[in-house]
Amino acid sequence: MGVSRWVFLIYSLLVIPPNPIGCLSSKEISEIPVSFLNFAKKAEVFDWMVGIRRRIHENPELGYEEFETSKLVREELDKMGIPYKYPVAVTGVVGFVGSGEPPFVALRADMDALAMQEMLEWEHKSKNPGKMHACGHDAHVAMLLGAAKILQEHREILKGTVVLVFQPAEEGGGGAKKMIDAGVIENVKAIFGLHVKPDLPVGEVESRPGSLLAGSGFFEAVISGKGGHAAIPQHSIDPIVAASNVIVSLQHLVSREADPLDSQVVTVGKFQGGGAFNVIPDSVTIGGTFRAFSKESLMQLRQRIEEVIVGQAAVQRCNATVNFLSTEKPFFPPTVNNKDLHNHFLKVASDMVGTANVKEMQPLMGSEDFSFFQEVIPGYFIFIGVKDEKNTKPASVHSPFFKINEDALPLGAALHASLAIRFLLESNAETPLLNQKLRDEL
Ligand code: NI
Repeated sequence: MGVSRWVFLIYSLLVIPPNPIGCLSSKEISEIPVSFLNFAKKAEVFDWMVGIRRRIHENPELGYEEFETSKLVREELDKMGIPYKYPVAVTGVVGFVGSGEPPFVALRADMDALAMQEMLEWEHKSKNPGKMHACGHDAHVAMLLGAAKILQEHREILKGTVVLVFQPAEEGGGGAKKMIDAGVIENVKAIFGLHVKPDLPVGEVESRPGSLLAGSGFFEAVISGKGGHAAIPQHSIDPIVAASNVIVSLQHLVSREADPLDSQVVTVGKFQGGGAFNVIPDSVTIGGTFRAFSKESLMQLRQRIEEVIVGQAAVQRCNATVNFLSTEKPFFPPTVNNKDLHNHFLKVASDMVGTANVKEMQPLMGSEDFSFFQEVIPGYFIFIGVKDEKNTKPASVHSPFFKINEDALPLGAALHASLAIRFLLESNAETPLLNQKLRDEL
């Protein structure tokens, strides 16, 4: 071999990437999900994700207080050599894998726990009294860190940049909104989010195009009358009877005013007033939630809830004030999945787990603050099975007995990573996704 060939050989080893972008065949691209899943199932990767999930589970933190969780995320990103921004929206962390150049695609995990006591007895039970990861956000963080590891290990085939969004305060605090206000999805073309589902077997995933989860709001009302002796009601103005009529009238909003084909909910879950058998109290406080699948229906409900409470209280000679708690519990828009991203999900997920394990789900009246991202850029939200096969009646999310099957962690990590890497490989500046967004806005 002559000198020039040696020079070329050394040059090609040093300079030419082993797998140049653009040289992946469509067959190789379609094999990415399975190879990522196999990577995530390797014992050292799986055990590492399980360890992360359990550490977070033992130390649950509420919205905007996820300091230890956020620290753990940053430590793991440091170990992987992944740069990040911190703090974003108090405790949020935003990591970057890839070239640092466009195109950008984002993956999101929520980090917060719930204010409830874990009742499940196991080795890694919550050590923080009155706080519990009962919605699987501990698993979401572990899955996104798993995706970060997969992407970092395969960065030679990554085109552009994957933005890793670890957000605070999903459970009512609107952490997603604060992340958007901090600019984390500027120039990002699409975002994906996952949520565990305890009644779906491990190995299955499900979602749907269009409306997936409802938008939601909360209200609280104080209905004031005039207290007095229970035996002489003519000298009082009874707020308990007034509040009772208010609640009955609120139920007519869905049954008599809403289109029966436009699913809506109004639930009064709070009724506080009086403390004695023989006293009419001065006031009663009621509160509840309302849900709908469009912003218009949600705003219509909001307006009518206020009118009905004030008007119906007045019928009984009471005054009422209504508070929609928009600072503490901001309105969540409906979660609406982009149709082109749905097709992307079907392709990637089917390549990973087979078409039979990719299910189309019915919409749910639950809500998610992932919807704030979807108001700004095309977004797609997916449910992933974490059913414990031994348990025929798995506890739902937000139950004190909630439990996940950790065997689902590799699938969550690999799905996240595959959705992102294939979106970047298969998209270009003229992507129909952008056109879809424009169409949606017109
Ligand atoms: Ni959740």
